[in-house]
Amino acid sequence: MSTILITGASSGLGAEMARQFAALGHDLALCARRTDRLEDVRSDIAATHPDVRVSLKALDVTDHDAVFRVFEEFREEFGGLDRVVVNAGLGKGQPLGTGRFDVNRETAETNFIGALAQTEAAAQIFRAQNAGHLVMVSSFSALRGMPKNITTYAATKAGVAHLAEGFRADVHGTPIKVTVLYPGYIVSEMNDEADQKLTGMVSTEKGVRSMVDAIEKEKDSACVPALPWAPLSVVLKHAPLPVLKKLM
Ligand SMILES: NC(=O)c1ccc[n+]([C@@H]2O[C@H](COP(=O)([O-])OP(=O)(O)OC[C@H]3O[C@@H](n4cnc5c(N)ncnc54)[C@H](OP(=O)(O)O)[C@@H]3O)[C@@H](O)[C@H]2O)c1
Repeated sequence: MSTILITGASSGLGAEMARQFAALGHDLALCARRTDRLEDVRSDIAATHPDVRVSLKALDVTDHDAVFRVFEEFREEFGGLDRVVVNAGLGKGQPLGTGRFDVNRETAETNFIGALAQTEAAAQIFRAQNAGHLVMVSSFSALRGMPKNITTYAATKAGVAHLAEGFRADVHGTPIKVTVLYPGYIVSEMNDEADQKLTGMVSTEKGVRSMVDAIEKEKDSACVPALPWAPLSVVLKHAPLPVLKKLM
C-alpha cells in the first residue's frame, strides 16, 4: 500500500485512476479545480473501499505557487508521497496561424508549464525522500509533430515526455522511478461525441486499466492500451505526411 497523488482527478482518466488505485488499496491525494467533482470521486471510493484514505484539495496547475504548496501540504498530511501522477491536461487547440494563439497558449501553459511545476514539486519531494515514482501522462500524439487542431497539444505532450525522461536520467541508479504513458483514444470529457467514434477508442475503464497496469509495473514507458497503439506508434513515426494527415 502506498500514497498516490493524482492531478486532474475530477474527471476522465484521473478520476478512474483514483478508483482503480483505491481498489488496489492505495491511499489517495486528489486535486483539480472542480472540488464538487472530487467529492463525487471520494464518495464512490468511500462506498466501495472504506479503508482507503482520500484527501482532496482544490488546485489550478497554472497557479504555480499553489502547485508547490498543495504538493507539500499533501506530503505533510500523509507523511510522504510514494507516487505522483502528472495528469491534469487540456485538449484545446486550433491550427497554427489561424488567429487562435489564445487557445493554443492556454493549452501550452496548462499542459507544459503546469506539468513542469508539478514535476519540479514532485521531484523536490522525491529527492528529499530518496524514493518515489513520477508518472507522466503524455499522449500517443507526442510521437510525431501533428497537424490541425492538435499541433500545440501534441508539442506539449512531447515536451512533458522529454521532461520526465530527463529526470529519469538524473535519478538513474537511485530508488526514484519514472514512467511515461502514451495513451491512445480513451473516453473522457476531453473527447467529445464526434471523437468517440475514432478508431481504437476504448472505454475509460479499459483504457485506465492498461494505464494502472503499466504504472504498477513501474514501466519506463508504455503505449496504453498496448493494442492497437504500440504497433501503430511505429507506423505513426514513419508514415509519409499524406498518410499522417489521414490518420490524425
Ligand atoms: N482521453 C484520452 O484519449 C487521452 C489521450 C492521451 C492523453 N490524455 C491525457 O490524459 C490526461 C487526462 O485527460 P482526460 O482525457 O481524462 O480529460 P478530462 O476528462 O477533460 O480531464 C482533464 C482533467 O484535467 C484537469 N485540469 C484541466 N485543466 C486544469 C488546470 N488548469 N488545473 C488543474 N486541473 C486541470 C481537469 O480538472 P478540473 O477541470 O476540475 O480542474 C480534469 O480533471 C490529460 O493530460 C490528457 O492530455 C488523454
